[in-house]
Amino acid sequence: MAKSEAAVLCPHVMIFPLPLQGPVKCMLKLAEMLSLAGIRVTFLNSHHVQRRIPDSAAYLTTKYRNFRFQTLPDGLPDDNPRTGDQILNLLQSMEDVSQPLFRQILHSAATPVTCLIADGVFTFAARVAKDAGLPLLYFDTISPCGLWGLLSLPTLIQAGEVPFADEELDEVVGGMEGGVMRRRDLPSFCRIKDMKDPIIELVIKEAKHIPLAQGLIFNTFQHLDAPILSQMLSICPNIYAVGPLHAHLKTRLAADAASNSIWEEDKSCISWLHSQPPKSVIYVSIGSLAVMTRVQLYEIWHGLVNSGARFLWARRPGSVSGSEPDDEVPLDLLEGTKERGYVVSWVPQEEVLAHPSVGGFLTHSGWNSTLESIVAGKPMICWPFHADQQVNGRYVGEVWKLGLDMKDSCDRVVVEKMIRELMEVRKDFFLERAHAMAKLAHSSVGPGGSSSLDFDRLIQDIKMMNIPMNKIL
Ligand code: UDX
Repeated sequence: MAKSEAAVLCPHVMIFPLPLQGPVKCMLKLAEMLSLAGIRVTFLNSHHVQRRIPDSAAYLTTKYRNFRFQTLPDGLPDDNPRTGDQILNLLQSMEDVSQPLFRQILHSAATPVTCLIADGVFTFAARVAKDAGLPLLYFDTISPCGLWGLLSLPTLIQAGEVPFADEELDEVVGGMEGGVMRRRDLPSFCRIKDMKDPIIELVIKEAKHIPLAQGLIFNTFQHLDAPILSQMLSICPNIYAVGPLHAHLKTRLAADAASNSIWEEDKSCISWLHSQPPKSVIYVSIGSLAVMTRVQLYEIWHGLVNSGARFLWARRPGSVSGSEPDDEVPLDLLEGTKERGYVVSWVPQEEVLAHPSVGGFLTHSGWNSTLESIVAGKPMICWPFHADQQVNGRYVGEVWKLGLDMKDSCDRVVVEKMIRELMEVRKDFFLERAHAMAKLAHSSVGPGGSSSLDFDRLIQDIKMMNIPMNKIL
């Protein structure tokens, strides 16, 4: 059979995520949904991440005959940390080491690839797709509001808004979202002073490349992000808002999906939650990349204990910088934790958030965590670290009114006050808002919902991509 005939019979998508927990988890959900819809999928993963998801990999390749993984090195030594502060190293080594292999894999695929879906941060994917004559869809797994901030950087620089003229972070930024955004709410890289900094250059490069894709995929839903999504149309007229992906996949499977977690989940926390009163627990996590200082650890800890709330804390190994303290942990913290707290290293987060005993989430505002909290109807306290998280915190606090934004502050008195506000003083208000948004999230992924319709359109378009590109563009 000629190569083109094979392609007509079998749409084949190659998915290339940024090999980190958040993006991989999210892209695997999309990949599984494509497989369910009968699309052949090759998931390109780094050796480093692939070794850490043996159960999910086995589940996917056993369940779907049209799903396979292919792996390549990310170019970093195995023991090199892959935390948020290492992102530039990771991207550079992927450009140098992974990119040429990516080209080879693409060209040597036994079944011709008919569409490429890559993380928006991979600017090289635009050239690879062009050289191969393939349609490219960028899937930025960060929030649309965060991506909008990223795409706005060249304009903000031109308008003299960035770099900031002074240290006044509460200054409102002109031309952004009707006066809602202060300097402190822009993506973290906007705080950099030197416009020649490699991060700034990377962001500007990404902003130039995103419009080169034939389409943009977003992990969001219309009810949440309609204004930003319509702004995005000016960058790319072909947008698919198919999220929240974890809920969407669950709906299409009519069952729970694999967790795709790269750390082992400690399920004992679920038994602990079973023994707590309804909505009494605040769940705390800073996700898979952020690192807090030891001083911050103690401020959060004191705030939690002093608030009198019950708490479940996922403290990922390596998430606290600096060596162990010489001094002993204060007795009141140990006592307070024994009475009302439970600390583990990694939890099954979707299950935790859905648990009736959980009443709120103190989060770093990573986009997956934000969406998981929204789907579970749990209000948030946002303590953002980097990238889109600053923007997400502002949207949660001011735009969607689903919680409180604690950004740039990590003081035990503030932490205590915010927890009391979320879990006691304004509990009913926030729970009502969160329930209403959760309902909209669920309806968007149900039959006839906006994300469901966008996903069906994505499938149709991928099938059409077997036709030579000049006929569909
Ligand atoms: C990164 C970026 O930094 C973030 O800004 C961007 O929005 C996505 O990628 P990350 O730290 O991975 O963030 O956070 P997030 O997107 O929230 O993803 C973390 C994932 O880990 C979530 O899906 C969450 O369910 C999972 N998780 C976290 C667990 O399964 N168990 C835990 O204990 C903690």
